[in-house]
Amino acid sequence: MFQPALRTLAILGLLAYTSFAHRDEEVITRDIAIIGGGASGTFSAVRLRDQGKSVILIEKESILGGHTNTYQDPVTKVPVDYGVEVFHAQQIVKDYLDRLNVSWVVAPNFGVGSIYLDGQTAQPINYTSPDLPVARWQELLQPFGDFLAKHPDINNASLTIFRFGQGLGDFLVQPTLYVFKNFGLEIVQALSTGFLAVTSQNNYEIYDHATKLLGSDVLLSSTVISTLHREDNGVTLVVQTPSGRRIVKAKKLLIAIPQKLENLRAFDLDHHEAGLFGQFKNTGYWTSLVTNTGLPAGFNTISVGADTPYNLPNVPLVYAVVPTAIDGIFDIKYGSQSSLPDDHVRREILSYVKKLQDNGFAEKVEPEFVRFNSHTPFELTVSPEKIRGGFYKQLYGLQGYRGTWYTGAAFHTQDSSLLWNFTESHVLPGLLK
Ligand SMILES: Cc1cc2nc3c(=O)[nH]c(=O)nc-3n(C[C@H](O)[C@H](O)[C@H](O)COP(=O)(O)OP(=O)(O)OC[C@H]3O[C@@H](n4cnc5c(N)ncnc54)[C@H](O)[C@@H]3O)c2cc1C
Ligand SMILES: *[C@@H]1O[C@H](CO)[C@@H](O)[C@H](O)[C@H]1NC(C)=O
Ligand SMILES: *[C@@H]1O[C@H](CO)[C@@H](O)[C@H](O)[C@H]1NC(C)=O
Ligand SMILES: *[C@@H]1O[C@H](CO)[C@@H](O)[C@H](O)[C@H]1NC(C)=O
Ligand SMILES: *[C@@H]1O[C@H](CO)[C@@H](O)[C@H](O)[C@H]1NC(C)=O
Repeated sequence: MFQPALRTLAILGLLAYTSFAHRDEEVITRDIAIIGGGASGTFSAVRLRDQGKSVILIEKESILGGHTNTYQDPVTKVPVDYGVEVFHAQQIVKDYLDRLNVSWVVAPNFGVGSIYLDGQTAQPINYTSPDLPVARWQELLQPFGDFLAKHPDINNASLTIFRFGQGLGDFLVQPTLYVFKNFGLEIVQALSTGFLAVTSQNNYEIYDHATKLLGSDVLLSSTVISTLHREDNGVTLVVQTPSGRRIVKAKKLLIAIPQKLENLRAFDLDHHEAGLFGQFKNTGYWTSLVTNTGLPAGFNTISVGADTPYNLPNVPLVYAVVPTAIDGIFDIKYGSQSSLPDDHVRREILSYVKKLQDNGFAEKVEPEFVRFNSHTPFELTVSPEKIRGGFYKQLYGLQGYRGTWYTGAAFHTQDSSLLWNFTESHVLPGLLK
């Protein structure tokens, strides 16, 4: 109800801004302003530029890459990818990496040699991985737990599906649709034919090369602090950068950050937009590298549940403790059904390592974080009722509304390759027009 008044204020603000207040402020004029330099935003910037559009990519962190986390041993320079690991061997991925001069290989399966431990107590569990069945696809709106109960023929696959669905929170209550979007045909195929991996095993190479390619078309450590105008005839944004404020004027806007209301406050949402984005719930997901654990080299676990349906572990939990290419450093990931404070998650991870020590897997020493990253909000979901009621139809209906387009996992799925494919075929055409 305050929207028109706010809009008027914003326009007055724009006049005041441009005519009096900050006369010296640099104005950046481009065809397309892109918000968020993760998988989708960076891809969009490269592809739009290559097709003759001028772009500006605005990323709040000091590097591009979003969920990509790469740590390099300061001495040996050995890289460890503890965020995004692998891609699909699709043409779009090969073309994109070739464009960025990033060498790739199609590698055999990854993630072998783990032992099963209880997700809460870190005690060994008498669990053997069952044979994988052929999946059946239907009744996608029911909670995944109900779906499994009705389909005993895929029960054997539940823990494998769970491993690929890290970050999806409580599997048994999530609508089945989200589970299968994360464990779709491409994943099933890649399990036998192999995933595509960056040869150097340093996924940040993609974003390092993209940063160099994009040059001054990237604003790092920058955020949009307000929107002065956003309509079919263009957008005007105020952006805070490390070297002061900039006015960004663009014909079109592409929002490639997780579309939660709290992330979109600076974009002057109207009631229709806010009403849709306000419906998203989110899970929590964290990555870390931990040293001085007391664990023996090669220690490798997957969390399961002792007395839970299908041996799926309860959330929140440590998903797995996996050795890395760097001696003494373990990759530990954590997940929850909704957001949690980072400090709480840090304590939970360290307390799990202590449990491993108490349970005799490790010597009693003081574990320390080498890296800790929040990927929260991770999976954005709405209820089955909302999906049935046409939520996604309305969400997709926002493409192009008020000069604004959207991409990213909330519009498709948490998978870089599939997001590049989706962005290329369903989002960029609207921006290229
Ligand atoms: C631990 C982990 C492992 C994964 N492994 C794989 C894998 O092996 N293969 C795979 O394909 N996918 C993997 N994924 C999923 C993949 O990372 C995501 O699907 C993909 O990154 C989503 O891309 P996106 O563009 O939607 O968002 P993101 O990559 O998250 O990008 C969003 C970007 O927006 C920035 N941002 C946020 N808010 C603002 C703001 N207000 N202003 C400016 N910038 C902002 C963020 O800093 C970020 O850079 C993994 C994810 C995680 C967390
Ligand atoms: C995009 O995905 C579809 C469906 O998986 C696939 O058939 C197509 O080849 C992909 N496109 C490219 C360019 O890789
Ligand atoms: C890729 O390599 C070619 C040939 O060396 C070079 O001309 C080009 O600038 C490089 N591009 C990127 C994005 O690194
Ligand atoms: C583990 O489970 C199998 C099959 O359920 C059973 O035969 C075996 O005795 C169990 N082992 C232990 C140590 O409990
Ligand atoms: C499930 O796994 C068990 C044990 O490995 C096996 O006997 C059974 O045939 C599997 N079921 C299906 C449907 O594949």
